[in-house]
Amino acid sequence: MADLMDKLVSLCKRRGFVYPSSEIYGGINACWDYGPLGTLLKNNVKAAWWRAMTQLRDDIEPLDAAILMHPKVWEASGHVEHFTDPLVDCRQCKARFRADELPGDPTDPQTPCPRCGNRGTLTPPRQFNLMFKTFMGPVEDEASVIYLRPETAQGIYVNFENVRTTARKKIPFGIAQIGKAFRNEITPGNFIFRTREFEQMEMQYFVKPGEDEKWFEYWKEQRFQWYLDIGIRREKLRFHEHGPDELAHYAKAAFDIQYEFPFGWKELEGIHNRTDYDLSRHQQYSGKKLEYFDDATREHYIPYIIETSAGCDRTMLTCLVDAYREDEVEGEKRVLLSLHPRLAPIKVAVFPLVKRDNMPEIARKIASDLRRHFTVFYDESGAIGRRYRRQDEAGTPYCVTVDSQTLEDETVTIRWRDTLEQERCKISDLARRIQQLLDSA
Ligand code: GAP
Repeated sequence: MADLMDKLVSLCKRRGFVYPSSEIYGGINACWDYGPLGTLLKNNVKAAWWRAMTQLRDDIEPLDAAILMHPKVWEASGHVEHFTDPLVDCRQCKARFRADELPGDPTDPQTPCPRCGNRGTLTPPRQFNLMFKTFMGPVEDEASVIYLRPETAQGIYVNFENVRTTARKKIPFGIAQIGKAFRNEITPGNFIFRTREFEQMEMQYFVKPGEDEKWFEYWKEQRFQWYLDIGIRREKLRFHEHGPDELAHYAKAAFDIQYEFPFGWKELEGIHNRTDYDLSRHQQYSGKKLEYFDDATREHYIPYIIETSAGCDRTMLTCLVDAYREDEVEGEKRVLLSLHPRLAPIKVAVFPLVKRDNMPEIARKIASDLRRHFTVFYDESGAIGRRYRRQDEAGTPYCVTVDSQTLEDETVTIRWRDTLEQERCKISDLARRIQQLLDSA
């Protein structure tokens, strides 16, 4: 299974999905750059999330808040006080660990260092705050310290009143946001699974106290279904309920949606019942009233929040791991990414069978027409089998080929990535047919 990660990381580099960041300088730990195919795939993941969470609903509004926020936000949120991990060093080999990931108690001299194996060399755990600090303005003193946001959620809470009044929303309603978050993780790793800079897709749903448990169940089911809708295999997904020792400082209840990665079952998304903690704290620290007045019942209350918090990079890794397949075609090994067609970076590849008889000209014209509707890749170099293979590996669901029959009847073949089936289609009907295939996928 670990082999699969090696193959995937290599495919991602080779085909331009993901590169190590600052690679010409030797890279920088736990930071990654998305290449041409990776950028398209990531955009498609985000588009699928926006569609499900805002476009198809009338109760959720979008937001794009700033990364840099007033430092008091992070005091109110509890991050300055609580957003820490217990850090342990090995005095011998200088390796660093999270205390909760060690095989034993670090203060027990019998616990070996997982790196060098020495005993009695681990330091007692000390709390390490994961927020990145920087300075606002030219003076680097305590008064100008600000943080890179470790979650997008707080941008939503501080805009609760702005969005509620300008979008004229009544409770229950939600605010959704996609954006970068930063955490100075002690043990990043597993490719783009845990990084220090990543993107979150978060939605905060504001509800009446007492109705929170009903909405919590509703959002658990909605979010699980979303992963099935983007093509992830059901047997690779499960819920994990947080026990009392796992609950974040703000949460009354929490479930993770987990995926079975080659390195084990891991969290993809958290669904949290955050009670009235966030709005109460921001009301207290800002001095601004964040109570809601319910016209129908004439009640004043601070809304409870049900949060759905997914990682965009982690979803992308899930899609790639889940889609990776190897098979054999005509005696030749084939690697393919069986991505959901809606997520595929390139929707259609267009090939002339050979570089003569006007086939390249016809194929280029088809590619140019299709580009108005879809992401298209034109390729005339190499044997047709190799061109198909290159697209299989990039996850392209449909390949269109211009051949000698095209010259007679103005039809082309559409070839399916997963089944290798082919059908003939009139050039004039091609865009409609591909759209139909995408809609029904
Ligand atoms: N607002 C709540 C919150 O941030 P979280 O469980 O800490 O909750 C939510 O994070 C999601 O963000 C995770 O399920 C994961 O998908 C993603 N995430 C968190 N830390 C990450 C990291 N270091 N690298 C990549 N994704 C991360």
